[in-house]
Amino acid sequence: MRMKIAVLPGDGIGREVIQAAMRVLYATSEESGHKVLAEHADVGWTAVDQYGEALPPATRDICRRSEAILFGAVGLPDRDKTLPQDQRPERVALLELRKGLFANLRHIVMPAGLAHRCPLKNELITNGIDILIIRELTGGLYYGQPQGITGQAPSRRAVDTMAYSEHEIRRILKVGFESARKRRKKLASVDKANILATSQLWRETAVAMGQEYPDVHLEHIYVDNAAMQLLRRPSDFDVLVTENTFGDILSDEASMLAGSIGLVPSACLGEPDAQGSSATPFYEPIHGSAPDIAGRDKANPVGAILTVAMMLNHTFGLAKEARAIETATFAVLNEGQYLTGDLGGAAACSEVAEAIIERLRV
Ligand code: IPM
Ligand code: MG
Repeated sequence: MRMKIAVLPGDGIGREVIQAAMRVLYATSEESGHKVLAEHADVGWTAVDQYGEALPPATRDICRRSEAILFGAVGLPDRDKTLPQDQRPERVALLELRKGLFANLRHIVMPAGLAHRCPLKNELITNGIDILIIRELTGGLYYGQPQGITGQAPSRRAVDTMAYSEHEIRRILKVGFESARKRRKKLASVDKANILATSQLWRETAVAMGQEYPDVHLEHIYVDNAAMQLLRRPSDFDVLVTENTFGDILSDEASMLAGSIGLVPSACLGEPDAQGSSATPFYEPIHGSAPDIAGRDKANPVGAILTVAMMLNHTFGLAKEARAIETATFAVLNEGQYLTGDLGGAAACSEVAEAIIERLRV
């Protein structure tokens, strides 16, 4: 198989973690006989400095003609401050590339050997933590209209709108049910149906769809309660599905359960439109650009490496190769000899990648 990939390292540690992840991808494809056709492109401040914009046309073109986008991080807080909110790389590049990709999968796994890095007491996590968060990504407060600030200070008014159609709810819940079916068959649907209209429609839809998936155990949880239950009984969660903003917040909370945000991969997936064309699937580790440690070979590459595994699984259907990467990665984490600073170790980003490649058996 030939894999056409747009590689967008972006800013800060994006560069080193994507380099590490690409080394693992090349090692995997070499062993399994698949061919990687990677086109590198600039994004974020790196692109602003060269082309005057965070998502230049050349980068868009490369993304459009690729089968998947492997993305590092964008944004540098010191420089972001110099621009109005709507011109910052997060908006101009990140949200732009995610357009049309309604399903955001964030996979949170606590490596058994790193239970001591999890902030929860040992007795709460003896059964392990493996949660797939599925966040709706193209609706809700991020895009609902009207949105904006009107009037004159000090009497201005700001509005955001949370809006969802049944179609949008159904297609993300479907991803939830289908994913649960492939895992431990438990789905937690998170809403605020006691207050919000969007959530009432969400819950009604989830209850109805539950009939079509009798093999999946469906639980409905209010979002505030879910934030609490994630800390109280994290091992009980298998797949969690929720709307955009709730998912944004809960996935940051849950990522800590893995032991470090540096361990968590993600995928943004869409579906073909009526014309049969679809946005390019987008893969990124969920950590940011971490400029304080950038360029010093200190960043944790695991989030980016596991992101490559998600890409092999979801875009290229290479489940065996994806599993090989995951197995090698968790072996290194559980051994505990090659850990980066965020996990209490002193290994370099490149050393972690090296150790994973050494253990790779495709
Ligand atoms: C995330 C981030 C983004 C989001 C920001 C940077 C726009 O928080 O990927 O979770 O809210 O989606
Ligand atoms: Mg977020």
